[in-house]
Amino acid sequence: MSGADPETVTAPGATPGAAGDAGPRTLISEADISARVDVLAERISRDYVEAGAEEILLVGVLRGAFIFLADLSRRLTVPCAVDFISVSSYRGSQQAGDVRLILDVRSSLKDRHVLLVEDIVDSGHTLDYLLRTFGARGPASLKTCVLTRKPGSMEVEVPLDYLGFDIPDEWVVGYGLDLADKHRTLPYIGTVTPEE
Ligand code: IMP
Ligand code: MG
Repeated sequence: MSGADPETVTAPGATPGAAGDAGPRTLISEADISARVDVLAERISRDYVEAGAEEILLVGVLRGAFIFLADLSRRLTVPCAVDFISVSSYRGSQQAGDVRLILDVRSSLKDRHVLLVEDIVDSGHTLDYLLRTFGARGPASLKTCVLTRKPGSMEVEVPLDYLGFDIPDEWVVGYGLDLADKHRTLPYIGTVTPEE
């Protein structure tokens, strides 16, 4: 499936949040996220069963993917193991696409069916780096599952096997995503302007 454009859902425009104009404006509601995670979990389970995989190794990218991974993993009907990594990227004045692994997986990826779980693809550099790095470790398979994508911002083409939503090119928070470590625990995905 890698290489093909994955099926996705385009998020509608943001509407004011429950707190009126004060907080993040809802872009994707809790119910819509939940329904989409159900669909993704069903597809992933079906595909890996068809491929004869006995176990999936879910690798979540900290910190943004922790909630998505927690919900997704509990809806998979295929046995799975869970591991996490953390990366840092240098933006702005620094070299574009300079991504570094600052916390590696504890598990060996050799001969495992690895599914990278990420909150958002923006430029694509993070996922591109991770696919190259982990692809060199001899996994039985290596796929990606991404909750949101900003299609207008991608600088490198990365294969997305499973994708939740296409979203506008705005800063989004909630459901694991943050702005300077704020708003991560909101149950929905919302948009904020940088000063919020
Ligand atoms: P990329 O390497 O440009 O694709 O960036 C991916 C990473 O940037 C994600 O894992 C997030 O940590 C962060 N990011 C990009 N856009 C947003 C956003 O709108 N909200 C929160 N984090 C974001
Ligand atoms: Mg991230």
